Amino acid sequence: MSTMRKARWALAVATVLLTACGGSGGSSAPVSAPTFTPIAVDDSAVAQADPGSPLPAGWQFSGAFMEVFVRSYFDSNGDGIGDFQGLIQKLPYLKALGIKGLWLLPITASEDHDHGYAVEDYRATEPAYGTTSDFTALVQAAHAQGIGVIIDYVENHSAQTNGHFVNSQGSASSAWRDWYIWQATQPTGWSIYGNNPWYADNGAWYLAEFSSTMPDWNLTNATVTAYHQNNMRFWLNLGVDGFRYDAVSNYVKNGPNAWLDQPQNYTIAASNQALLAQYKQRYMVCEASGDPAGFAASNACGSAFGFGHNADLIKAAQGNAAAIQAVAAYPTQVPATIATFLANHDSGNGARVYDQLGGNLAQYRLAAATYLLQPGIPFLYYGEEVGMSGGQGLTGDPALRSPMSWTADTAKGGFTTATPYRALAGNVATFNAAAETGDPASLYTFYAAMLALRNGHPAIAQGSYDAWVASGTTLSFQRNLAADHVLVLLNYGAAPTSFALTSLPANAQMTVLYPAGGGSAGTANGNGQAAVTVPAQSVMVIQLN
Ligand code: GLC
Ligand code: CA
Repeated sequence: MSTMRKARWALAVATVLLTACGGSGGSSAPVSAPTFTPIAVDDSAVAQADPGSPLPAGWQFSGAFMEVFVRSYFDSNGDGIGDFQGLIQKLPYLKALGIKGLWLLPITASEDHDHGYAVEDYRATEPAYGTTSDFTALVQAAHAQGIGVIIDYVENHSAQTNGHFVNSQGSASSAWRDWYIWQATQPTGWSIYGNNPWYADNGAWYLAEFSSTMPDWNLTNATVTAYHQNNMRFWLNLGVDGFRYDAVSNYVKNGPNAWLDQPQNYTIAASNQALLAQYKQRYMVCEASGDPAGFAASNACGSAFGFGHNADLIKAAQGNAAAIQAVAAYPTQVPATIATFLANHDSGNGARVYDQLGGNLAQYRLAAATYLLQPGIPFLYYGEEVGMSGGQGLTGDPALRSPMSWTADTAKGGFTTATPYRALAGNVATFNAAAETGDPASLYTFYAAMLALRNGHPAIAQGSYDAWVASGTTLSFQRNLAADHVLVLLNYGAAPTSFALTSLPANAQMTVLYPAGGGSAGTANGNGQAAVTVPAQSVMVIQLN
């Protein structure tokens, strides 16, 4: 492969001749300018070698997942930066909470050495996180706890320091030129997220939708999509359980007014899904903010994040009746494989939940209960379960990506023995795992209770969504799967409310599952009617028999 590449390169490289200046009054001799020498890149083919999956069948469709930023989770070696070994140490914590899967923000070697979306090497790990064998140790340790691990896959763009881009940039006749998107004349009329995505470089222009330092791959070039699929197999062969695909809405650009959710994006997603289907029990979820339902469909990604729904969940928790209506109807408008969430690592999707709700814990619990009990595959954002706020003194994305609050220590937060690489959460002294895991009244305990319901009830994890009624500041729905029948009553209002239920199974006995020790909520009559009173700003979960 590399010999072929060199031969191709030798043909492609144009030798530039310059006239030497110097030599008084003599003839000038042509000498070669320093010619561009391509960087060695590994784009060799990777054959499928599936190590299999030790996870239970269907693990990926019941959730819940935790989105984890390795850099901010736990530092095992005292350099102030989170790492794979640190995350391994925290797996028992995640298991106890009831987490079934992890989504790791990019763990591949990056140029940015922070969020990781500027990928420098798709087949190497970020050095500060550990080696590839540390990473495989993490995957194996997670599997031993019954937890799957998916990693971010960034197919839309790379780092500008990625060897492929450097080779593409080196010469217009480079064999790699067409791996990225170049134009010889400056394109006009483009605006993506308010920016002109074309950047001048040595007399030509390359396209980069997110940042000049993250040039976009040319995904209309089959060699490029094949290269990415080889990278995917590289990680799948190591036992990775799937991918969260970054920026899928942005893949192919057909013109200045045709750069979002282009038809080719669905095709590329489907072909990645087909690749994963060759492996046992893998999972694919797309970030496709332009069309969540379309990309969650089985003929595209099969699962995608429910952008927009996150904001409705927060507003519903605040008692907004229109948002409660929207939240109630949502499961009927999207595939059940929609990936639901309240907040994530991008400030475009809102601040941390604690900050969005101004620290109102009753509303926080309602938001959590709603998405953890409705259909969908819930994704918690690390620290959400302990009420982590934004980072002290930080704004924008960094504010969302502070080190995890493990203890009340305001200097290190239990995250590191050194100085944390980034400011801790503003509320670390009061909202942290050490304070909350032992407290029956804490947010953590509430999250654990909701996840225990989900993990213990097939109807909640994967059942149908029935008899839903949104009325004022209340929402009720049933979840059913085989013999498991669960009724959820959410009162977002400021006063106790009696729910007049009309669609229960005739003569159903109602046993309160949450709050724990709630006893019986009575029996439905022969027409399936019953009245149940739910305290202000609270959730009641009832087993129907
Ligand atoms: C996605 C990621 C975001 C990243 C961007 C570019 O939107 O969620 O964090 O900056 O893609 O990779
Ligand atoms: Ca470290």
